[in-house]
Amino acid sequence: MKNDSNKKESPEDPVLSRRKFIRNCVRGAVGLSAVGVGVYSLGFEPHSVSIEHQTLYLKNLPDVWRGRKIAQVSDIHISRVVSPDFINRAFERMNREKPDAVFFTGDYVISWKFDEFMEKLSQSMKKIECSLGSAGKIAVPGNHDYWTSWDIVSQKLVNGGFSTPVNQVIPLTLEGETILIACCDDLWCGRIEIKKLLSGVDTENRPVILLSHNPDIFDNVELKGRTISVLSGHSHGGQVCLPFIGAPITPTRYVRGFFRDGNTTMYVNRGLGSIPPPVRFNCPPEITIFTLEKC
Ligand SMILES: [Fe+2]
Repeated sequence: MKNDSNKKESPEDPVLSRRKFIRNCVRGAVGLSAVGVGVYSLGFEPHSVSIEHQTLYLKNLPDVWRGRKIAQVSDIHISRVVSPDFINRAFERMNREKPDAVFFTGDYVISWKFDEFMEKLSQSMKKIECSLGSAGKIAVPGNHDYWTSWDIVSQKLVNGGFSTPVNQVIPLTLEGETILIACCDDLWCGRIEIKKLLSGVDTENRPVILLSHNPDIFDNVELKGRTISVLSGHSHGGQVCLPFIGAPITPTRYVRGFFRDGNTTMYVNRGLGSIPPPVRFNCPPEITIFTLEKC
């Protein structure tokens, strides 16, 4: 039997060796990129709020309201991950924008220890400033608030200085001139009464903003043909928005930004918090500052 131990190893083909090196480099780069994207999506972007400035055009807006600012905050989902510190910093940035009114469009909690976290949110909310004071601080419910307890959540919102009208129209008045804020219940869990809510409201001649957590309200037949501006949330912008593809997972087709159907417009806010998995990519947390303008 021949002894192979004396056999000399043939030197590796230099072309194959180079290919192997390049392949390993590519694998390494892809691996590092994936780790980088993971760290960014988990550790950085969800904690970096973006203040989005938009113009909200309203028909028959009284002159005194032109140039006034409304802040919208949605889907706070306060939790161990969406921390009270992060929310305090976000509210401080919102205060620096000097809004006249602040609207919350639902989903303040996730289920885990929601009442404890809601108490912390309530404390943070007391630091929110707007020129209209308590009259300008309005909050409507979202599905998560019903899935936990709207009774408890709404009480904490009230303790934080906000009113929580549901299926009511609230007048906001500046120097004797009024705009109307129609406060809608949650589409999934509440009572939707758009017809009743808007009965007696002359949407052709009065500026009306409708607050609805769920943007699918835009399809409600009672809104068709009305001149009304809807502010909504719920989608979180998908939380992950891939280049060229968009958001692969969303609970609605109205994912982010402005939509129009005739004279009805809607803005969908990307949300301030996130739900598990608490990642955001190309979809930072948002506070919207609307400057009101006449159209
Ligand atoms: Fe949400």
